[in-house]
Amino acid sequence: MVARPVKIIFMAYTKNTAYNDLPALPPEGFAETPEILRHLAKASRFLGELNGLCASLPDPQLLINTIILQESKDSSAIENIVTTQDELYRAATEDGSTNHAAKEVLSYREALYAGFKKMKAQQNLLLTSTLVEIVQTIKQNQSGIRNTPGTALKSAITGEIIYTPPCCEDVVRDKLTALEQFINNPELSALDPLVKMALIHYQFEAIHPFADGNGRTGRIVNALYLVQQELLAQPVLYLSAHIVKYKTEYYQLLRGVTEKGNWTDWVMYILTALIETAQLTTRKIRDMLLLKDSHEKQMKEVLGASFSYELLQLMFTLPYLKIELLEKKGMAHRQTASTWLKKLAEAAILKPQKIGRTTYYVNFRLMELLGDR
Ligand SMILES: Nc1ncnc2c1ncn2[C@@H]1O[C@H](COP(=O)(O)OP(=O)(O)OP(=O)(O)O)[C@@H](O)[C@H]1O
Ligand SMILES: [Mg+2]
Repeated sequence: MVARPVKIIFMAYTKNTAYNDLPALPPEGFAETPEILRHLAKASRFLGELNGLCASLPDPQLLINTIILQESKDSSAIENIVTTQDELYRAATEDGSTNHAAKEVLSYREALYAGFKKMKAQQNLLLTSTLVEIVQTIKQNQSGIRNTPGTALKSAITGEIIYTPPCCEDVVRDKLTALEQFINNPELSALDPLVKMALIHYQFEAIHPFADGNGRTGRIVNALYLVQQELLAQPVLYLSAHIVKYKTEYYQLLRGVTEKGNWTDWVMYILTALIETAQLTTRKIRDMLLLKDSHEKQMKEVLGASFSYELLQLMFTLPYLKIELLEKKGMAHRQTASTWLKKLAEAAILKPQKIGRTTYYVNFRLMELLGDR
């Protein structure tokens, strides 16, 4: 009997084996569909609006700082490092917070700033060495690129392997070099930068160069890439709030690219996240501006000649104020600081809150505006 021919399907990828065949970007045959183009137009418009708003701010760092802290919280929450808004802002006020999650969130913010500074110092290039610096700052250790085999992504519920990234160090480094070129050399692809951002995020996660912190580093790269591409002057747009909300899809779509080459749905997901987050951030910044104006007016009435613009600024960077903080910042002596905060509390601009032996004076309207999920 003649054996019937068996159809052999070439499987470039199996979940349990290191994916050393992960192809370099751009994906072969990928093109922007009409649906992607429609989303692109929308995303670019909202991004432009956000960038314009940031450019018009009298004191951009002030509000941007808050947006960045929000992102740090959301991005860390994806990793189940959960801190409440209140804990986080209290930790930001204190020097040596003991709250582990809050500390890790603050490290994320530090990493974002470190990456931004490094990129600016290196002619706007986003280099592998910068990625390593970012992850080391997030993790507050000296971990570098993975040099031992055995890293695999597992289901948190069943423990089953979902994905095995490339192995080992030399392969990972080669893939990172190719990614570095794709990021920094616009000649390599004519795709829209926002689409490229989506491709880069997948690629970075698929390479999974570190033992831990890959998700967070990859999400910082997104923000820095928008600045590198001059779509934003400041790193103010973050997708983590959206990803927290649609986390299952985030994981599924990453798998979809690896297992089925489904780039279109992945790109659409990232563009949708961009559209939603750009609008949300614009709204938040506008609300914060209004609140700052209203606080300024009220404070001038309450404090009269001793009104301090520096104090107003501080209320928006560290919404959990305390007497010692004002002293430490050299803004006032203890007695004056205490008078200021008490008067602002009487006028219901700040709300006193006693935690342990410390009385904090909380810019509660800002906290309400930021919201706690
Ligand atoms: N199937 C997959 N293929 C490639 N990357 C994936 C896949 N599933 C998840 N990821 C990425 O891996 C990240 C988790 O990796 P890791 O624990 O190293 O990062 P982290 O920053 O510590 O965690 P997290 O992203 O959960 O905050 C996810 O955030 C996601 O970006
Ligand atoms: Mg992790």
